[in-house]
Amino acid sequence: MTVRHFLRDDDLAPAEQAAVLDLAAQVKKDRFAHRPLEGPRSVAVLFDKPSTRTRLSFTAGIAELGGNPLVMDAGTSQLGRGETIADTARVLERQVAAIVWRTAGQERIEEMAAGTAVPVVNALTDEFHPCQILADLQTVREAKGGLAGATLAYFGDGANNMAHSYLLGCATAGMHVRVAAPASLPPDPAVVARATEIAAATGGSVAVTDDAARAAAGADILATDTWVSMGEEGKDTSRYEPYQVNEDLLGRADPAAIVLHCLPAYRGKEITAGVLDGPRSRVWDEAENRLHAQKALLVWLLERSR
Ligand code: CP
Ligand code: NVA
Repeated sequence: MTVRHFLRDDDLAPAEQAAVLDLAAQVKKDRFAHRPLEGPRSVAVLFDKPSTRTRLSFTAGIAELGGNPLVMDAGTSQLGRGETIADTARVLERQVAAIVWRTAGQERIEEMAAGTAVPVVNALTDEFHPCQILADLQTVREAKGGLAGATLAYFGDGANNMAHSYLLGCATAGMHVRVAAPASLPPDPAVVARATEIAAATGGSVAVTDDAARAAAGADILATDTWVSMGEEGKDTSRYEPYQVNEDLLGRADPAAIVLHCLPAYRGKEITAGVLDGPRSRVWDEAENRLHAQKALLVWLLERSR
C-alpha cells in the first residue's frame, strides 16, 4: 500500500506537477468525464479557518468526480473540542477516500498525514497554500502557453502561505520567482533555500528583495495576496504600502503581463481596483481553476494511493 499526500508544493516533483497540470487542462475540457469517486466514495473536507473558494471548489469538484464531499467545520466537530489529530485520522481513514484540511500549523496536517492511510491534501495552512498555486500555474499556462522561463513577481507579505507556495511551486515549474516584501517580513529562509535548490535543477531562479520596482521590472506575472491573513486580524499593515500592486507597478512589468490574486481581495490595500478589475487581471480564471486543478490533483493522488 502506497499513499501520496499533498502537504506542500514540493510534494510534487517537477514531472509530477506537470502531469497534474496536464490532467487539469483535460479535466477542464471534459468536465464531467472523470468519475474515480463513483460509488459514491466520500472525501472529508475539514475547515479550521473560514473559506469561500476552497470550500466551493472541493465540494463541487468531489461531487463532479462522482463522490460525496463530507464538509466539517472545527466548530462543529470533535476536533474543535480537543479530540486528537491522530484519533481523527484513524476514524476518517476507515470511511473516506481522502482528507482535505484547512488548518493553522503545518505540523498539524503533517500529523494527520502520518496517522492515516488515505491521501491528505493541504487546503491552506499558515505556511503553505499549494492547491492555490496549482490553480495559479494552470492560469499562467492558459495565458502564456507555458511555465518554464516565465517570471512571476509576488508583492506583499513575504512570510505568508502564498509567498512560500509561490517560491516552491514556481521553482518546481522552472519559473523565475521574485518575492518583494519588507525586509522585516521576509519569507522563511528554509523555504527560500529549498526553492533555490529546486530551481537549480529545473532551470528556474529565486530572488527575495525589498525593492518592489526592481521585482516588477519585465515580469510576466504580478501576484499579490491580502496583507492580513486569517488569524492575523488587527496587524499593522503600514509596512506593506510600498508593495501595493497598482498601475505604476504594472507599468514596469512586461507589456503582456498578467495579474493574479488568490482572493479574497481588498481593493485599495494590496491591489488597486483598477488593476484587479482591469484588462490584465486573470483572477476570475484563477478562482475557477481551483476546481479543475484540485479535481486533477485528487484523481492523480487516488491513482497513486492504492
Ligand atoms: N483563495 C482561497 O483559498 O480562498 P478561500 O479562503 O475563500 O477558500
Ligand atoms: N494568506 C491568506 C490567503 C487566503 C486565501 C490567508 O492565509 O488568509
